[in-house]
Amino acid sequence: MTPRKDLLDIASLSDEEITFILDNAVPFKDLFRRSVKKVPTLKGRTMLTLFYEPSTRTRSSFEVAASRLSADVTHFDVEASSIVKGESVIDTIDTLEAMRIDYVVVRHKQSGIPNLIARNTRTSVINAGDGWHAHPTQALLDAFTLRERWPDLAGRRILIVGDIQHSRVARSTSHICRRLGMQVAYLAPGSLMPRETPPEIKIFGNWSDAWDWTPDVVYLLRVQSERLTEPFFPSAAEYHRHYGLTDDRLRILDQRALPLMHPGPVNRGVEITDAGMNYSRSLINDQVENGIAVRMSVLYSLRPEPL
Ligand code: CP
Repeated sequence: MTPRKDLLDIASLSDEEITFILDNAVPFKDLFRRSVKKVPTLKGRTMLTLFYEPSTRTRSSFEVAASRLSADVTHFDVEASSIVKGESVIDTIDTLEAMRIDYVVVRHKQSGIPNLIARNTRTSVINAGDGWHAHPTQALLDAFTLRERWPDLAGRRILIVGDIQHSRVARSTSHICRRLGMQVAYLAPGSLMPRETPPEIKIFGNWSDAWDWTPDVVYLLRVQSERLTEPFFPSAAEYHRHYGLTDDRLRILDQRALPLMHPGPVNRGVEITDAGMNYSRSLINDQVENGIAVRMSVLYSLRPEPL
């Protein structure tokens, strides 16, 4: 397998590449249980995080991952940079190119920006989320978390609930789940369901029909208020009543012994309750921990173009 330069989405990865990244994340995760959690794999390399949108998990997860591989880590502070004075993304990249950065991790509200950057630099570009398009490392860490539970995912059913329309997580995670043989269903209000979805994906408008489908795992999405340009539902309370994981729905989840996932950050009282956050079968913290191992594996798998 020839190492690729960039990770921009799941669709462009071959099955072999997906398996390579997921398999190699296993020994990286084993490392976390050692007192010394660092290996010299990327010593002498530099990774830069370039986030035009806020992030808690993804940015810090990449920073920890790169540190554990002994890479140097730099954060480009967009707010304090010439970008606020109107510098274009490409001008910024030219500047970074001159600094001989090896990996740049990019998040941007506009779909396609990581792709544009990748075409204009020798640096390896990793998409940390672009608009509604893709969030490939979230999908990989979700797949890794699911594989820890079920080594063979073929035939397993994942129910993805919430704001599908605006969610790059829904797109990337449902894509990788299907590639790994899972059956995928979406549950959302009509106003937050994309007009076109792949025909293999089941569409539900209420929890009752979704429960009848007998999912193996429920994946809640964050309601992305910052992307909602118009009122897609009457109120947060109304959303919670019809589509959230209420205490009654949590009881069903528990009775069926189903695991629960969420990419974070959560809106307590909207898609999930405090009780949901304390659910014993929640995999949310596993997702966060696995994110580091998977991102180590991603950095390990990419090859920047030579200087
Ligand atoms: N899951 C995710 O992308 O979280 P952040 O927005 O905190 O990075």
